[in-house]
Amino acid sequence: MCGIIGFTGGSPALPFVLSGLRRMEYRGYDSAGVALCGGSPAKIEIRRAVGNVSALEAEVAAAPTDPAATCGIGHTRWATHGAPSVKNAHPHLSPDGRIAIVHNGIIDNYAELRDRLAAQGHVFASETDSEVIAHLVAESEAPTLAERVMWALSFVRGTYGIAVVSADDPGMIVVARKGSPIAVGTGGGASMVASDPAALAGRAESVAYLDDGDVAVLTPGAFEVRSLANTPVSRPCSPLDIDPASVEKGGYEHFMLKEIFEQPEALRNCLRGRLLPDDGTAKLSGLRLGPRDIASLSNIVVTACGTSYYAGLHGVYAFEEFAGIPARIEQAAEFRYRNPIVTPDTALVSLSQSGETADTLAAVREAKRKGALVLSVCNAVGSTIAREAGRGVYLHAGPEIGVASTKAFVCQVAALSMMALLFGRTRRLSGTEGRAFVKALASAPDLVAAVLARNDEIARIAEKHAAVRDAFYIGRGYQHPAALEGALKLKEISYVHAEGYHAAELKHGPIALLDENVPVVALVPQGPDRDKMLGNVQECRARKAPVIAIATEGDADVRSFTEDVIEVPPCPDFVAAIPVVVAEQLFAYHVARLRGEPIDRPRNLAKSVTVE
Ligand code: AGP
Ligand code: GLU
Repeated sequence: MCGIIGFTGGSPALPFVLSGLRRMEYRGYDSAGVALCGGSPAKIEIRRAVGNVSALEAEVAAAPTDPAATCGIGHTRWATHGAPSVKNAHPHLSPDGRIAIVHNGIIDNYAELRDRLAAQGHVFASETDSEVIAHLVAESEAPTLAERVMWALSFVRGTYGIAVVSADDPGMIVVARKGSPIAVGTGGGASMVASDPAALAGRAESVAYLDDGDVAVLTPGAFEVRSLANTPVSRPCSPLDIDPASVEKGGYEHFMLKEIFEQPEALRNCLRGRLLPDDGTAKLSGLRLGPRDIASLSNIVVTACGTSYYAGLHGVYAFEEFAGIPARIEQAAEFRYRNPIVTPDTALVSLSQSGETADTLAAVREAKRKGALVLSVCNAVGSTIAREAGRGVYLHAGPEIGVASTKAFVCQVAALSMMALLFGRTRRLSGTEGRAFVKALASAPDLVAAVLARNDEIARIAEKHAAVRDAFYIGRGYQHPAALEGALKLKEISYVHAEGYHAAELKHGPIALLDENVPVVALVPQGPDRDKMLGNVQECRARKAPVIAIATEGDADVRSFTEDVIEVPPCPDFVAAIPVVVAEQLFAYHVARLRGEPIDRPRNLAKSVTVE
């Protein structure tokens, strides 16, 4: 889940590498480092620092590397083996200092490899698993750097995305992937590599995405892909259509706030060309499913992690309500290990913004082994989950840089809703019902815009509660996953202990925690659960808990029972979670801002969890 970047061309490599690291800092950032290969005779220079990329830039300024070096690699680390420290930061060197590597992933058998190398006299400078790769490459007697890397990787078990440079091969970068994403590209006479294609936006004219087992050899302006067995491999190149501005902050204080305010546009992009008002259905050609395929489905399993899991729970409700297909949600780490019941007429829907989450990817592979029809709902185009599923729906939400997911969540809900509509219209939904569904879902961007217009009001409410230590979020029906998501948002960026609960569950224990210091965010939009929710609000008020209601505009009853109300526009129940969650996002954002937390890069977190 760290960031890997590399450049080899006719201009200095360092500026490209450092700016690429900045773009990927959200992926993992407890330390960072660069390796430059240049000079005559060629040599490797590394600079590393604990903390974020700014610390690394200060290190480089204090001890400049050869500014003329035109080949270099960089890494932002999210530690798995060895605490964040300079010695554990990447790049790692071979014993003679002539080879440098950066690694994303986990080497499962690193201890065994270290022992074997130590017995041969190798001395390790770090506590990481990654360093063994540098030592193995140095041990190889193969004729080329690529073959030395292939030889080294033949001993490695686990996951890796790596980049390797050598003073004996100036201008060359060898990269390889197994389980951790790697994109390679060319542009302006240079070749480049990144673990996130967004880092190449505005720089690479075209990119290719490596598959597991691929090894690529980059030289200035060209690259060649081969297998671990050193046979040629063909990987399609495509233009990189990521707007460079979309990976910058655009005047907002945080990427998260920018992405919250991008949600109307993100939803429009997600829905564009897919909702068919006249036919009252959706067109999702990426699923490559005809009516007979859909009619043959007997059940749906949605699998995901974190925020995507909560969007998946929303989708399960929609699949059952509108498509009449039995559906269940499975946490991906559970699905991959518990031997779930999956049959060839099961559709496994894997939900992942990054498309690289290790547990979700493993669940996809397990479902494929069991013969299920695997569908992906991803934001990152060309991501591993999307490619291994082979069919699915892209969110088109644009790069999501903030670690806390926002626009991806609302687009996941929209994408799953469109799938439920399509499946429903193939089975039990009438044209009239479908047209009403389309009208409701098509209003989502405007519903979100109305909530965004209340940003200042929400900020004022957040100010009243910014010092809380504990909070509850409660909801029913579609607002139950919304409550879970709201609690996660507050937890992960403000570090407040927030719990999301089904409102009916409070009285079965958690209500014991309520008192005047524990605010409850109650999701009470109009719908079949509103009256019951008012009863739950009363239960909380009876224990003196302050209640912040998120309710439909003009609901006087709610206003009479609660201290603070955040109003959302009226809309059908199955769409209401979208404006409701946007209100929760803004509430969490302002609490975290008022607490002075690093909102885009919360402690201990990474944007894409590509390790177990
Ligand atoms: C969301 O705010 C979190 N950053 C996290 O729970 C995230 O949703 C989870 O790691 C899944 O990521 P994915 O959607 O990229 O698979
Ligand atoms: N496992 C390696 C380490 O702990 C790489 C972690 C990462 O992906 O950043 O250094």
